Amino acid sequence: MVATPAHLLPSVGLPSAAQLGNEEVLRIRNDFPILQQPVNGMPLVYLDSGATSQNPLSVIESEQEFYEQRNSAVHRGAHFLAVEATEGFEDARATVASFIVADWDEVVWTSNATEGLNLLSYSFLNASLPGAAPEAAQFALGSGDEIVVTEMEHHANLIPWQQLAQRTGAIVRYIPVDDHGVLDLEAAESIVGPRTRILAFTHASNVLGTINPVERLVRLAHGVGALVVLDACQSAPHMPLDVKDLDVDFAVLSGHKMLAPTGVGVLYGKSELLNAMPPFLTGGSMITTVTMEKAEFLPSPQRFEAGTQKISQAIALASAANYLTETGMGRIHEWESVLGMRLVEGLASIPGVRVLGPEAGVERLGLASFDVEGVHAHDVGQFLDSRGIAVRVGHHCAQPLHRRYGLTATTRASTYLYNTTDDVDALLEGVAAVRGYFGA
Ligand code: ALA
Repeated sequence: MVATPAHLLPSVGLPSAAQLGNEEVLRIRNDFPILQQPVNGMPLVYLDSGATSQNPLSVIESEQEFYEQRNSAVHRGAHFLAVEATEGFEDARATVASFIVADWDEVVWTSNATEGLNLLSYSFLNASLPGAAPEAAQFALGSGDEIVVTEMEHHANLIPWQQLAQRTGAIVRYIPVDDHGVLDLEAAESIVGPRTRILAFTHASNVLGTINPVERLVRLAHGVGALVVLDACQSAPHMPLDVKDLDVDFAVLSGHKMLAPTGVGVLYGKSELLNAMPPFLTGGSMITTVTMEKAEFLPSPQRFEAGTQKISQAIALASAANYLTETGMGRIHEWESVLGMRLVEGLASIPGVRVLGPEAGVERLGLASFDVEGVHAHDVGQFLDSRGIAVRVGHHCAQPLHRRYGLTATTRASTYLYNTTDDVDALLEGVAAVRGYFGA
């Protein structure tokens, strides 16, 4: 590989011995079978973990072990396999609960963060319908009520709220972002007010890398009696997350972004809230008694887990949480901050490249979205792919945010615990060559 030109290398120091470093990261990478393969004749440089992460062998094996030794439906059998599967499933819930510092009954399995957010919006819609249970009144919305989001949300934390507003007569307002990719907190103070019923925002932006001031926003929302929904799908994989300490009312995450398989995620909710919420999906396994006329529902979490669940995936998500905990979430966050700053400083120094989000030096995720003047993001992505470098291109499910910056698409490089500084340098070298290749 050709060395990165000196002027492209940022002046970011490498972490101390207690932190993750390239040597340990290379050992970590050995745990990931998929990362060992060449792509287009080059070593794979995987910089698309913001879209989906890769799985260590221990996670893959935990799912395989379930199917080889314990496969059964849970909560509905008296035989050996049913007991084994139920134990594995509920142990997994306890592990994931402890990963986000929640109680076991506050962790509801979902398919992904998107489903968690839709679950909330449909439950709130059910609470708004005539005949809803009295305890559900706290979630009911009507004409004049306001749902506040931010301009940096991905579609999953925007459209479900738009739909809820359209169906209830509520309106959606948003906290704008400034030119540096940071929320305008002064504007937030005037937008969040007595009509605000829900404040839903991302912990960390999948496009900008910005990490939002959760405590401050929670104080603001709770000060006016609004519920807080935290989209943690970009933060939970990359930094310590303590939902109790943050005092959010609800939070969602996706397993596949944190080393687990696709098809499993988590909705966290404060126990007293989940137990007062009307269910979203109804059917088997979420009831106490059923007559031909009506049904009574179980408390959380079963209340929200109708039908046969994603059992092996939940077990694999717990295995992923264990892997991350053993590596150390604080260390992962520190290492990715190093990679992120190297990425941002390096990209910003390449002529014709515009990086979105906070400048280097500000705490951020290990990702950067950028525009290469005169070259479409899809061409940038294909050029990088020819060098074995995997990035995401397009609007990253955040069209309004791209519009805010006058763009329709960007290229995004996103790191994880298996990326080295060499991976970042390979990306920088590739991007530096892009405009020359396309004659831009
Ligand atoms: N999953 C989407 C991403 O890649 C939103 O950031």
